[in-house]
Amino acid sequence: MAAIDLESRIPNNVDLSSDKRLQRALEKWQPDYLSWWQEMGPVGHQADDVYLRTAISVEAGGWANFGYVKMPDYRWGIFLSKQEEDRRIAMGDHKGRPVWQEVPGEHRATLRRLIVTQGDTEPASVEQQRHLADTAPSLYDMRNLFQVNVEEGRHLWQMVYLLHAFFGREGREEAEAMLERRSGDADKPRILDAFNQKCEDWLSFFCFTMFTDRDGKFQLAALAESGFDPLARSCRFMLTEEAHHLFVGDTGVDRVVRRSAQLTKESKNGLASELGGVDLEVLQKYVNYWFSYCLDLFGSEVSSNASEAFAAGLKGRFQEEKRTDDHVLLDAFKTIPVMEDGKLVDKTFPMRQVLNEVLREDYRDDCAKSVARWNKTLASEGLDFQLKLPSTRFHRRQGLYAGAHFDPEGNPVDDAVWEAKRDTWLPTAENDAFLRRIMGQVLEPGKMANWIAPPRRGIDDKAEDFEYVRFH
Ligand SMILES: [Fe+2]
Ligand SMILES: [Fe+2]
Repeated sequence: MAAIDLESRIPNNVDLSSDKRLQRALEKWQPDYLSWWQEMGPVGHQADDVYLRTAISVEAGGWANFGYVKMPDYRWGIFLSKQEEDRRIAMGDHKGRPVWQEVPGEHRATLRRLIVTQGDTEPASVEQQRHLADTAPSLYDMRNLFQVNVEEGRHLWQMVYLLHAFFGREGREEAEAMLERRSGDADKPRILDAFNQKCEDWLSFFCFTMFTDRDGKFQLAALAESGFDPLARSCRFMLTEEAHHLFVGDTGVDRVVRRSAQLTKESKNGLASELGGVDLEVLQKYVNYWFSYCLDLFGSEVSSNASEAFAAGLKGRFQEEKRTDDHVLLDAFKTIPVMEDGKLVDKTFPMRQVLNEVLREDYRDDCAKSVARWNKTLASEGLDFQLKLPSTRFHRRQGLYAGAHFDPEGNPVDDAVWEAKRDTWLPTAENDAFLRRIMGQVLEPGKMANWIAPPRRGIDDKAEDFEYVRFH
């Protein structure tokens, strides 16, 4: 384990200074990254002092170093979690063999694709969120947005490090391409569709960090099981930061739920929108939209890519090492419903082929825990309204269910029903416009926009009126 080198141009614990060629390559990429950040990072706040945490070591608490930082001066570094002694490949055809410290030649292309796909999502989300500070409901929230943004930037550094260190010229080209693609760009879009969608209001931001970053958690967790040890160690440390992003999303939605419940009770006709809040039925539509969109990120239910990545030991299941089966899965099967002649029919597949679905179900169960917490909040405010996660078949654009329509319970419905109901199930242009209307920027320390409840406690235990962002 290399010591932490915080003094060098690129803070790291990968002993960068001992590999001059790699160090030079990354130092050459650094100014391009910084110009990307200036061009595509948060709009209008690059000169402000933001109360941010910066990762300075992988020890417990080493990532929780708080202080005022101007975002372009953020110390984006490369940190791998500690190398485990005698670590073995946890799954697939090579199970039990020592993990790889170099890229295994036969899996080079697959590994590169996994790293590039993961890496591309990181800058994409920064681009999607770049205008949100204009409508931040409080300084607390603005600070959280910026924290998420700088850490997504750091996650890009992690993946770019792997590309530069292990993939030669191809890796360098991929690293450059990371800064050339743009979210939503017609000619050079980001790789995954969900990362080309706009994220223009704060309910969407909270749904994004709740549902999309949670997809990130599951993808990172699956890659943290990788037999390619540098990738596993990279993802393990990224997960500690990801936990904060999920906190921002989960508690952000919860605060909207609480405020909506309060305004629902105060309003004459039982509608939060009468008092400038988000109606609970509308909130449900955003949950439906973001959850269903993020399900597509897991890939097709039946997938030979997933099967190969598992067989090769490159990508495991969520918490692979804690599972009690044989981790080889050649004798395992899973039944999932497929559409045949307009009806759902159970079909059984070899387990390795349906690993995307296994990961998706773990994700769904994780999301359901948050929804249960939100429903507790509703109950504590004295409302019987309950939020629900839709079926994993609802509103899919990829995979087995993309060709048909389903209601939120997962029952097949025909085109006519879908058309008639779609606006009650999914956000409409009017819903979007309403959210934009009620969401104005609040800059006074300790003040909160009307449509959202305050957080239970401050970041780093700061007081309610703490000045999380100092403007210049
Ligand atoms: Fe990330
Ligand atoms: Fe994240």
